[in-house]
Amino acid sequence: MKPADRAIALLDERLGLLPELLNEQLVKRALDSIFGKREQSVGTLDADSAEWQRLVDEVTVQETWFFRDVEPFRLLAAHVTGKWLPANPAGPFRVLSVACATGEEPFSVAITLLEAALPADRIRIDALDVSGAALEQARQGLYRKTSFRNRLDETASLRYFEPCKDGLRIRPEVSGLVRFEQANLLDLSAYRSRGPYDAVFCRNALIYLTTVARRHAITELRDLVSDDGLLFVGHSELMLFLEAGWFRVEHERGFACMKGAASSEAVHPEVHRHAQRKVRRAHLHAHATVQRVEPTEELVRAKELADRGDLAAAAAICERLVAQGIQEAETYALLGVIDQTNGQFEPAEEMFRTALYLDPHHYESLLHMSLLCDRRGDADGSRRYRARAGRAFEWQQLHGAMETA
Ligand SMILES: C[S@@+](CC[C@H](N)C(=O)[O-])C[C@H]1O[C@@H](n2cnc3c(N)ncnc32)[C@H](O)[C@@H]1O
Repeated sequence: MKPADRAIALLDERLGLLPELLNEQLVKRALDSIFGKREQSVGTLDADSAEWQRLVDEVTVQETWFFRDVEPFRLLAAHVTGKWLPANPAGPFRVLSVACATGEEPFSVAITLLEAALPADRIRIDALDVSGAALEQARQGLYRKTSFRNRLDETASLRYFEPCKDGLRIRPEVSGLVRFEQANLLDLSAYRSRGPYDAVFCRNALIYLTTVARRHAITELRDLVSDDGLLFVGHSELMLFLEAGWFRVEHERGFACMKGAASSEAVHPEVHRHAQRKVRRAHLHAHATVQRVEPTEELVRAKELADRGDLAAAAAICERLVAQGIQEAETYALLGVIDQTNGQFEPAEEMFRTALYLDPHHYESLLHMSLLCDRRGDADGSRRYRARAGRAFEWQQLHGAMETA
């Protein structure tokens, strides 16, 4: 086995990273810089070694920024002030930020809780990531412009950051609330004794994992979230949890859910009754999700609206279909096209990836992914998606020919 293939296999085995999404050239370059001429030692790469750690740092995607998606933080603030605080006049509010990358997410949580008037001594935030380099940056707490894609209120930014030569540094009153640790989200057993957590953030990490690793992570997370706690996920990851029996929390673009089994309306007032019914139906159909289904009338309508340029109305229909548990690659692909048209390239990629998770041969999504890779200069990724699109096209032709024969 070539060293890069062996490394990709180890990254899958240990961290659950999806081999298809690992750029072979990137892995090869990382190995070259780590081992030089000693490349052959990949076969025995020890999980505790500095070389393994460097490889992990190089190949993981640490893209993140303060108040990413905005609405999850508004939902968190509303939950704390409207529900948690009245029910818990004393004691800490515990948060776990899984796959926290360089720290923008847990610090956004800390600022949200302080702004929600939760006293600092009642805030406990654990934050973990598998990348030692990302955690090192998080501990330094120094941030440049790219970490601030959502405009911070000026007074808030002065309250929580201090300007310095290279950017903004998070103030100690905030950084002191977060404990950073290195951990693999496939083994969160060490956090069980510290939980259950009132809120867990695990956003934009599962999309990089294999189906087996995602399932494993979802089980791990179930043990960590309290019965009335919130789990915040990335928007294309929400459906994975709904399929696993979690309930969506009604808050537009909040992308949060609650554990299913022990739920009752009394403890989960924000979960609408009708949403529960819909999600249960989605759960019943979970085993059918990777099959191709005929586009619903609603999806046809969404496409018509998108063709006419009414992207907001088209997106609203698609989001409703997703919320109803109708997991169809076409729906996600259309959401991807809409995001792409709106210049939202990262969310667009997530949508196309989800479409490809549901239907690995989805031709349009493969082509769009290839274009998006080109856009960010990933020529190899683009080539791979184009090759897959070519195979999907052939497969469709063959399948069509067989059906008409
Ligand atoms: C795109 S960042 C997400 C950051 C943040 N949660 C957000 O949504 O902005 C993905 C992070 O997942 C981490 N990661 C990937 N696989 C992991 C694993 N098996 N265990 C823990 N962290 C992992 C990467 O190191 C990276 O920092």
